[in-house]
Amino acid sequence: MTHTVQPNNPEATPAADATDIPAAQAPAPAPPSASALPPVRALPPALRRRVPKYSDLAPLLQFKKPDFSREARLARASTIWDLRDMAKRRTPKAPFDYTDGAAEGEITLRRARQAFLDIEFRPGILRNVSSIDLGTDILGRPSRLPVGIAPTGFTRMMQSEGEYAGSQAAEAAGIPYTLSTMGTASIEDVAAAAPNGRNWFQLYLWTDRDRSLELIERAARAGNDTLMVTVDTSVAGARLRDVRNGMTIPPALTLKTVVDASYRPAWWFNFLTHEPLTFASLSRYTGTVADLINSMFDPTLSFEDLDWLRETWKGNLVVKGIQTVEDARRVADHGADGVVLSNHGGRQLDRAPIPFHLLPDVKQAFAADNADTAIMLDTGIMSGADIVAALALGADFTLIGRAYLYGLMAGGRAGVDRALQILEKDMARTMALLGVSRVSELTPEHVRLLGK
Ligand SMILES: Cc1cc2nc3c(=O)[nH]c(=O)nc-3n(C[C@H](O)[C@H](O)[C@H](O)COP(=O)(O)O)c2cc1C
Repeated sequence: MTHTVQPNNPEATPAADATDIPAAQAPAPAPPSASALPPVRALPPALRRRVPKYSDLAPLLQFKKPDFSREARLARASTIWDLRDMAKRRTPKAPFDYTDGAAEGEITLRRARQAFLDIEFRPGILRNVSSIDLGTDILGRPSRLPVGIAPTGFTRMMQSEGEYAGSQAAEAAGIPYTLSTMGTASIEDVAAAAPNGRNWFQLYLWTDRDRSLELIERAARAGNDTLMVTVDTSVAGARLRDVRNGMTIPPALTLKTVVDASYRPAWWFNFLTHEPLTFASLSRYTGTVADLINSMFDPTLSFEDLDWLRETWKGNLVVKGIQTVEDARRVADHGADGVVLSNHGGRQLDRAPIPFHLLPDVKQAFAADNADTAIMLDTGIMSGADIVAALALGADFTLIGRAYLYGLMAGGRAGVDRALQILEKDMARTMALLGVSRVSELTPEHVRLLGK
């Protein structure tokens, strides 16, 4: 006998097929005898209907005055994805897509996010997790959370508070903030805005050593303890959303952008009533924006340039954009204090290695080499659970790009605060459910990679 499987519900009872006896021909069931019927019982009082009294209704009536404040709006976001939805509603398409998008088919970014979902946590039970400590040490100094803010260029284009919001939120949260060479606030302005923050500087290294040296000296003078040199940008990635949107920096007022502005008035009001976007770290630069971007990405760079940088910069040197175990080892041999396993948020090479997949092998290689090089990781982090998974598999620290930028676009400084609060809450909850009270207790035993 064959059965027809009911769509969408594999547990549903199979339908009878043509070989079953039709209901009309089946023998009718015998009526139950009176003695077999269950005795009729009175309904319990709780199930009898009655007219509601006002005293019953009063506690249920909770009409509140609607609150349209920025804080109330942001408080309604429970996840980074919620902040992304708010960001999308409030930001013109070109800057939103510049942030949200990645290179070519955006395969790298999708895979990086999927990698965090393709795991199973392995919790320990009956552990005392009444107090969770998310603090950790990174590059010789403490951070209140095991996550910092990654360098992002053109940040004031996403929302006018830009680098000021990012650095001040990081300062308040007790975590490092990284200013990009392509930042729209200067090294000095960020240092003044977040004087007690731990500010790092990201460098696009040019073979023109004078220009690089000038920035390095400014970063040192402004108190940056870490220089992060990005090495995955020999040329610019193909960001197709930007091409399709005709994206320019700063956004141009075309018919299309004016129409877009009509339903994102707050962004345009902010944009037009604040200081125009400038590349504040590059005040001496006089070329066009396109020339600027091309000049940032130097295809002639080599390990010799890294050696020069190691000699020149006395603080922590971190190399960002490591995508193979061999390069991680080589960079450590050349004196890096830390590596960032990163594919630039999927914005450069599409179908690039996924940092989360690379992590255990780099951890193992560094252990074999007795290297004490710090392992940081970014790309694809959208929740605190992602961060916990990365720490468990061997990362010393993590960085977030879009996760904080969605907060920024959703609500400026308060939005970045909200993004960090969401991640902190996620991390604390995940660790408690794993039976772990501190970051150092996380081990690879806490994560199983599905399919392995
Ligand atoms: C809008 C945007 C701008 C970025 N600009 C820079 C930059 O100027 N320098 C750099 O090293 N990385 C830059 N990145 C990459 C980030 O530092 C980081 O590697 C990436 O965002 C991590 O992925 P995630 O966004 O999924 O967290 C940028 C990323 C975004 C989204």
